[in-house]
Parts: sequence; C-alpha cells; structure tokens
Amino acid sequence: MNEIDWSNIGFGYMKTDYNVRCYYRDGKWGEIETCSDEHINIHMAATCLHYGQEAFEGQKAFRCPDGKIRAFRLEENAARLQSTCRGIMMPEVPTDLFVEMCHRVILLNERFVPPYESGAALYIRPLLIGTGAQVGVHPAEEYLFIIFVTPVGPYFKGGFATTNYVITRDYDRAAPLGTGTYKVGGNYAASLRANMEAHAKGYSCEFYLDSKEKKYIDECGAANFIAIKNGTYITPKSTSILPSITNKSMQQLALDLGLKVECRPIPVEELDTFEEAAACGTAAVLSPIGYIDDPAVGKRYTFSKDGQPGPICEQLYTKFRNIQYGIEPDVHGWVSVIE
Ligand code: PLP
Ligand code: COI
Repeated sequence: MNEIDWSNIGFGYMKTDYNVRCYYRDGKWGEIETCSDEHINIHMAATCLHYGQEAFEGQKAFRCPDGKIRAFRLEENAARLQSTCRGIMMPEVPTDLFVEMCHRVILLNERFVPPYESGAALYIRPLLIGTGAQVGVHPAEEYLFIIFVTPVGPYFKGGFATTNYVITRDYDRAAPLGTGTYKVGGNYAASLRANMEAHAKGYSCEFYLDSKEKKYIDECGAANFIAIKNGTYITPKSTSILPSITNKSMQQLALDLGLKVECRPIPVEELDTFEEAAACGTAAVLSPIGYIDDPAVGKRYTFSKDGQPGPICEQLYTKFRNIQYGIEPDVHGWVSVIE
C-alpha cells in the first residue's frame, strides 16, 4: 500500500481490503460473508434500481490515544436502519447482525483506521438494497446488506471552523409526510441540484426550510441544525428531517453542561436571535456556521463576526470528540472498543 497522507484525506471513497455482506432470502438472513470485491452483481429488475428500495447508514470508528479502536453508537444506527426498513418495506436488519458486521469489517480493515493525530476517522457505510426482481411496484423478496469502510477526513473544509450556508427556497428535500426521517437515497437525489448550486456560489451547503409552509428551519443537505441562545440548545422538531444520532448525543452533552434543550419548530426569522449555530452529523461532527444567507428575501443571518466558532459549540465539540476518543469517561455508554 502506498503511504496514505492521513492528515490530508478528504471525505471520499478509498478502496480498502474487505467488505462484509449478508443476504436475505426465503424470509431470513443468511451467514455473514467476507468479500474483497468492490462490485455487486444484481438483477436488472432489482427494486433498488427501479423503486428506490435502498437505505444506508453512516457511522465512524476512531484510533484512540490509548491505541484502541472505538466505534460510536452502533446500536443507534442499527435502530435507525430498522426504522428506515419499516418505512420503505424492507426486512429489518437485526441489531446483533448489524453490530457484528460492523466489528468484523472494522477489524478486517484495521490498517485503514487513521492514526489519532491525523484527525481523520474510519467511516462505516452500511447499505441495504432490494435485489429481488419486480416490475410492478412491490417490495422485493430478496435483499443484500453490505457494510464497507473508507478512511475520511472532514466533511466541510477546515474541520472545526466556521463555514457559510444558503437557504434554498427553490427545492425541497423531503415532503412533510414523506421519507425525510428515513435514510434513503431518494432524499439525497432530491438534494443534489440544490447542493450543487450552493457549492457553485461558494457556500458550504444548502439549507432547507419546511417544505409545506417555508416558515421553519428543517436541516442541511446532510446534517441537522442546532443553535445556542440564552443558555439553551435549540434544534428543529420536524417530520421531514433525519433523526441525527450526533444531535441526540449533543443534546445529552448540552444537558450535562447545564444548558436547557428545546426541540421545537424554529421560525426562520428566529435565526436573527441565535448566539451560535452549527450543523451536526456523523460526517459534519459539529460544524460551526459563520452565516446563513436567504437570497430570496435579501437577508443574511450572522452567527460569528470573526469567523471563530462560538464558546458553547467549542465545548460541545471537545466533549464529544473526547468521548469518541476514549479521553473522557464514556458515562452514557456510547462507545464500543473494537477488538
Ligand atoms: N441529516 C441528514 C440528512 C443526514 O444525512 C445526516 C447524516 O447521517 C444527518 C442529518 C446526521 O445524522 P447522524 O448524526 O446520525 O449522522
Ligand atoms: C453522515 O453520515 O453524516 C452523512 O450525512 C453522510 C453523507 C455523506 C450523506
């Protein structure tokens, strides 16, 4: 293997040694298989290709200062995948199977877990697809569950540094009673155009309002929104956003720091009143927001005048990372050592 420049890798795909697979046939899950092929061979009428029976997850594992590898809240990702499965009529992947496959794929690719000092991590990508053939719109009878891993650097450039966002009023990511709470590919397909336009204008990411009334904050393309005001951690309650495991964890850490936590609809004008704001997710971790533009109404909401992250975001970020890296005690039982 050529030397990897761990400190300078981006958030992209890098080939690793193995992936793990499990097939669902005849109403049950089979044995876990180890595979070194990056490709899959599927029927041209597979439901994942035609009717969007596709779900994925994303979590991370870290090489820690004590030399161990730790993974973050795998059971929560398993539970969210199960919720997605119920949402789009796929068989649920049992938690034990999900967790065992994660452990196995991490260990098989141990040499790709970036060193602690690099700040990079091993991204774990579970993927569940309907492989059975259908032409009528029906769920498949056969499925393939794969987990692959790839080393990643920061999702937004600069890591823990402020970046800027733009509200899109021209596109919706998910309908109020649609698939926004599930991690299905269709939601990301719906976001590609807005994301490309935001990048072309120099923004880090596009920002969605609720798709029914365009009155409330929803989330970013691939991360939840959080804000700080008067000692309170505020985050949107919405039927069209992904329930972020990072956000759930940050809420607990905010309570631990003595903040109040509010999960409620956030009117867009309230952005004017926030002292700090950030995007949060596995890939984004906690990415502080400098400003959010709303070009349709000629408005800029600024959260950081000097480009520096706010103090509470910084505390939350540090505490979160320290737990992931086994530096601070894992009082909530969030991390598992992979051995
Ligand atoms: N929102 C969307 C649309 C996402 O794709 C993600 C990433 O998974 C998140 C939020 C953050 O969720 P999590 O913290 O579980 O990674
Ligand atoms: C995440 O895992 O945080 C993501 O949003 C993944 C993204 C690349 C879709």
